[in-house]
Amino acid sequence: MWYLSGRIAEDTLGQYSRHVFVCTHGEYCPFDGSAEVHRLLKEQIAARGLKRTIRVNNSGCFNQCGNGPMVVVYPENVWYAGVTLEKARRIVEQHLVGGLPVEELRYQAPPGPNKNGTRMAEIEAARCGAAAKPEPAGPRRG
Ligand code: FES
Repeated sequence: MWYLSGRIAEDTLGQYSRHVFVCTHGEYCPFDGSAEVHRLLKEQIAARGLKRTIRVNNSGCFNQCGNGPMVVVYPENVWYAGVTLEKARRIVEQHLVGGLPVEELRYQAPPGPNKNGTRMAEIEAARCGAAAKPEPAGPRRG
């Protein structure tokens, strides 16, 4: 068993002890700040001198749209949803550095696709609203 007592064995995941994916290229997670979460995770790992053992990557859609920003950590296969910058700092400290998944932040959903249609509709509406906003009036000519 590669996952024992909240800790992982050293030789379980090829080139890195942990691999973190952040949905930054899906249609919805970026609207809720996934690029900023990805940046913070990378900065925090670098600041701790852990770039050689923990890899943080951009990712495409996890099919959990509207629940983002979505983050998944391997090899534990722990999924986090709605990750804010504050939550990302906790994930770094407790999970990526400390080795213990943040149970209260763990994504609770059945296996497979789980889209949050309500939040997706809000995001689409916000995008339409932003697109429909009139340009600010320029100086009067006259
Ligand atoms: S857009 Fe992030 S899970 Fe689909």
